[in-house]
Amino acid sequence: SGTMEAPATEFPAGSAGQTSSKEVTILYGSQTGNAQGLANNASKTLEGRGFQVTVSSMSDFKPNNLKKVQNLLIVVSTHGEGDPPDNALSFHEFLHGRRAPKLDDLRFSVLSLGDSSYEFFCETGKQFDKRIEELGGERIVPRVDCDLDFDEPAAEWIESVLNNLSEVQAVGSAVAPASVAATARETVYSRTNPFHAEVLENLNLNGRGSNKETRHLEISLEGSGLTYQPGDALGIYPQNDPELVNELILALNSNPDETVTINKQGDIRSLREAFTSHYEITILTKPFLEKIAQLTSIDELHELIGGGNEEKLKEYIEGRDLLDVIKDFGPFDVSSQEFVDLLRKMPARLYSIASSLDANPDEVHVTIGAVRYTTHGRDRNGVCSILCSERLEPGDTLPIYIQHNQNFKLPENPNTPIIMVGPGTGIAPFRSFMQEREEIGTKGKSWLFFGDQHFVTDFLYQTEWQKWLKDGVLTKMDVAFSRDTDEKVYVQHRMLEHSKELFEWLEQGASLYVCGDEKNMAHDVQNTLIDIIEKEGNMNREKAEAYVANMQQQKRYQRDVY
Ligand code: 2AM
Repeated sequence: SGTMEAPATEFPAGSAGQTSSKEVTILYGSQTGNAQGLANNASKTLEGRGFQVTVSSMSDFKPNNLKKVQNLLIVVSTHGEGDPPDNALSFHEFLHGRRAPKLDDLRFSVLSLGDSSYEFFCETGKQFDKRIEELGGERIVPRVDCDLDFDEPAAEWIESVLNNLSEVQAVGSAVAPASVAATARETVYSRTNPFHAEVLENLNLNGRGSNKETRHLEISLEGSGLTYQPGDALGIYPQNDPELVNELILALNSNPDETVTINKQGDIRSLREAFTSHYEITILTKPFLEKIAQLTSIDELHELIGGGNEEKLKEYIEGRDLLDVIKDFGPFDVSSQEFVDLLRKMPARLYSIASSLDANPDEVHVTIGAVRYTTHGRDRNGVCSILCSERLEPGDTLPIYIQHNQNFKLPENPNTPIIMVGPGTGIAPFRSFMQEREEIGTKGKSWLFFGDQHFVTDFLYQTEWQKWLKDGVLTKMDVAFSRDTDEKVYVQHRMLEHSKELFEWLEQGASLYVCGDEKNMAHDVQNTLIDIIEKEGNMNREKAEAYVANMQQQKRYQRDVY
């Protein structure tokens, strides 16, 4: 069927029979690329100390090879309601199933990534850790659970793994990693060293009267050496709302010009600057509440975090921020330094890139939905989206970096048909796909499913889509405007209306991409996809699910969901 099977990772040569414990296998499960990046860093560090390392995504790893592994490092993130990333799903299922092998000879350690503002913090990493122990594995070092600011704990984890592996195994003279030159990118800019990029254009894509505001940003990469592929994401470090920062400083009874140390390197900033650019102040986490409770004797707060009432705690955390905590439980008898030490570092926001670099040299475009809502008696704003909406003008700069994403890529063969499902801001990567395919001059068929509330105000990039359709760059387009009719129509309804043809495309080897809201849309779209395959392929549910799993394994079903 004209499709490519992803090559399964082969075991390093010379491992027949006896494995040397200088061999380490690193498996990652990564949705946005952070876990993958850390796995690659760990690999370089270990290779630099003379270890022979195999790095692979969990989905590319042949589970039968697990029995041959002596040292296994797992780097895995968690998303949604405690779910594994897509490329960890099959391995996760295999390990938890009846066919999982005994792993008595295995030494392992898990690095898990997550977000402590979610209930199921680092759940997937915890499950792997527990399960591998059950199967007989012995921990090299205990699991480390990382929050959004994962750099330091991740570096400490790999150091202690290294120390423990080296202790057991007298490692020969360190070998300089031969692969560094090959993997080095041309740019010096990265997540930890962002490029200050000029904003060239900042537009609202929605028409007057829309319920929505969607910003289209064009950003200059000139002089950065940064490059990207369709499917990659742009990381943006935003600034907090200056009014919220003022209110917070006022509530804390602090002086905005007082200085605080913001990191282990000892960099010093004014409190105002620290709250504006260096710390997250709009999200509450359980660890924060636990720590602040230790510094006070306020009964209500102790009651809230005292355990036993997780539901009540979750309800409190949801939709509240630091200012609420101070107003509800303050004042706290802590110094400004002690207070900022309790906070998470400002995390970058990731946005799917909406442009092709070939079509827009030295530029990157993103599509950002403005987030505004009211909870607990106050208007609240999404940090980055409202910065873009209200306080960012062409000529201003933003600290940015490129997050490479191997899990959302155009097919290697430009003639492979693609089906794109991207309602709302989920449209972004498909604009980059079309720009790229137009640039290449491909003959591959393409089919877009787009949806939003109203045709007149919310058809994002409408004229571009219509031109691509006219020029034949885009083969088919089906749209679902949910609030133009009495009954709601969504992208999946359009898919179902064309189920026969959609299944034909799949049988011809088409790749299917879904981008946008995870919780509702992506979930419903996946169910519809299975319905379609069941119906048109004359399969039972189980077979249809296996068909989708197989597509996923072949990288023909990829999701960029949030
Ligand atoms: P709604 O807001 O009218 O419910 C982009 O946000 C589009 O996705 C909107 O038209 C929105 O419709 C729609 N949407 C909401 N929930 C969805 C779901 N579960 N599946 C598909 N589309 C959905």
